[in-house]
Parts: sequence; structure tokens; C-alpha cells
Amino acid sequence: MKANERAKLKIQSLTLNETAEVEKGAEIIKRGGLVAFPTETVYGLGANALNAAAVASIYETKGRPSDNPLILHVSSVEMAAELVKINDMAIALMEKFWPGPLSVVLPVYEDKVPPRTRGGLDTAAVRMPDAAIALALIEKSGIPIAAPSANISGRPSPTDAETIRREIGKKIPLVIDGGETKFGVESTVVDLTGKNAVILRPGGVSKEMLEAALAAKVLLPQDQNIIKRSPGTRYRHYAPLLPLRLCKAGDTPKDNGNWAWIGTSHPSGNPKVKVLFQNTGEYAKELFRTLRKLEESGTEIIYAEIPDDKGIGSALKDRLIRAAGE
Ligand code: TXA
Ligand code: MG
Repeated sequence: MKANERAKLKIQSLTLNETAEVEKGAEIIKRGGLVAFPTETVYGLGANALNAAAVASIYETKGRPSDNPLILHVSSVEMAAELVKINDMAIALMEKFWPGPLSVVLPVYEDKVPPRTRGGLDTAAVRMPDAAIALALIEKSGIPIAAPSANISGRPSPTDAETIRREIGKKIPLVIDGGETKFGVESTVVDLTGKNAVILRPGGVSKEMLEAALAAKVLLPQDQNIIKRSPGTRYRHYAPLLPLRLCKAGDTPKDNGNWAWIGTSHPSGNPKVKVLFQNTGEYAKELFRTLRKLEESGTEIIYAEIPDDKGIGSALKDRLIRAAGE
């Protein structure tokens, strides 16, 4: 399996310091405790996925609704195959995109994965993260790690360790610091339980990339008669403490009020704070951190430029729409 080989190579890039942190983390995970750790998307709040009590403490720490299932993080394809029933579509996608920002939803082995981990569903999402610390933590623990984003439920996902220390640091024994995450938005969640793959949450692996790998049409929830959804999409997400409105660069307010602008091009009006990104990738990477920073900037409202709906832009647009509560 190429995915496994890539994961092994990735783990070799761990520094000595990181190895020591991972060893501490693995001991905590094995004892049923919580560890916050970096992945390539956002930071996760991890626990032993097979231990219902450990998983319950994730929900409690985040204030997460109990019917919202967790993603199971694995360090090998074999580990995934012990949890969920892998099919041909899954093999094709794992080989192409793992380790990477792709979670696949498959029928679960119900005797293996506690209902608490999967929100009582008969499916589960599995993902192999593309970050040395995350992969090594799973491998050292020797168990799949259930990990939602390491934020209080409903708040923007953390993309650096400092944000976690401030928000939930007191409640958890260890935050492993791996610097800023690469993508800044969470993984793509794709349902593989039907005839066609269905994207439940857009992320770092785009619809076009999935279609090329499967040589088949990939559906969006709105393409379906029966709307399949990720339970997580029912809840308000990524909510900044300030109101957020989406607009085109040319449509921004002309007044001299107390507003902030974020986007890749200049607004037409005159904001109090202007945050400009080089490109859509940087916009996505910096979005959640920027939303949190703007809460402390003294502005009253954030206007965010709508990105192009392709590549990482689809994931970014999805998060912006949800941050706006639209
Ligand atoms: O990038 C990521 O995916 C990050 C990092 C830490 O890996 N994790 C993450 O987890 O974003 P969380 O819990 O914040 O989001 C998981 C999403 C939720 O929308 C949840 O409803 C969905 O995945 N999900 C999990 N299991 C599912 C299942 N069996 N069926 C449908 N959706 C599922
Ligand atoms: Mg989350």
C-alpha cells in the first residue's frame, strides 16, 4: 500500500523534541486521557476511539452534542480495515490521497467501535492525517484516535497550539505544539456507502480531485433526492463573536463605520482593519485565526470576500457561509 509507505516516511521527519512529546501523549491516550495534537488541517482533540469513557470526555470538554460523530484517525490502511468495511472506492481514494485531508465514511463494524464514538450511527469516518506528530501519536498509542477539532463546540477550529491553550488548555493534560497547520480548514468528508461518492463536507481534497481518482461522478448533498448530511452540518459552526457578512470586493460598505475586511482583493470602501491574503490558499489557512484576532480588534462587523468556488475555495466558502450563520 502506497498510503502506508508515505505515512512511514512522514513519521521519519519527527524531531527529537517532538518524539518526546509524542511519547508523553501516547501514554496519556493509552490511559484514556485527552491530548490535543496538530494535523495538516486543524488541531485535533484526541482520545482512544475504542474506549467509550475516553471518548465521552471529548464531548464533555468541547460541549459537543452527543449525536455528532467523531472521525477515527489511523496510521495505516490495515488499522482502518479493522474499524470499517472497506470497498473499492475507498481503496482507490486511500491510495491516492492518504495520508491527507480526506475522511471516508463507510459501514462500521459495530462490535468494534463504541456507539459513543460514531454518534450511534452504523457508519464511521476514518482518516489518515498527513502530519508526522499525528501519525506517530497514533502509531505509538497503537490504537485509532478519535479526534474532533480542538475547539469549544461552535467556535472556529484551532490552527495553532496557543489558541487551544487559551480556550481549553486548563481542561486537558497535554497540547503538542506543531506550529501552524498547513491547510487551516478541516478535511473533506466523503460518504462511500452508496453507489456514488457524496461530499458531506468540502475540504482540502476537492470534488474535481475525487472525480479524477474515481473516474466517476461525485455528488454534493444538494444533488441528491434524499439529502445525506454530515450530522455536524446541522449545528452552527465556526461562529466568530462578531457578525460576519459575505460580499464581493466591489460591494463593500462605503461608510467610515467600524468594520473589518478580509479577502484577497481590496474592498471598495474604507475599513478600520484590512486583512489581505496573497491567494485563496492563504485565505483558507489563515481564516480561523484571523476571525479570532478580529474579535479583539475593536471592529463591530467583518465583511469577508466570497472566494471562487473551486479547489480549496469550495471549502473556504463553505466555512465562511457557516461562520456567517447563513
Ligand atoms: O480535518 C479534520 O477532519 C479535523 C482534524 C482534527 O482531523 N477533524 C474534524 O473533526 O474536523 P470534527 O469532529 O470537527 O468534524 C467531523 C465531521 C463532522 O461534521 C461529523 O458530523 C462528520 O465529520 N462525521 C463523522 N462521522 C461521520 C459519519 N459516520 N457520517 C457522516 N458524517 C460523519
Ligand atoms: Mg469541528
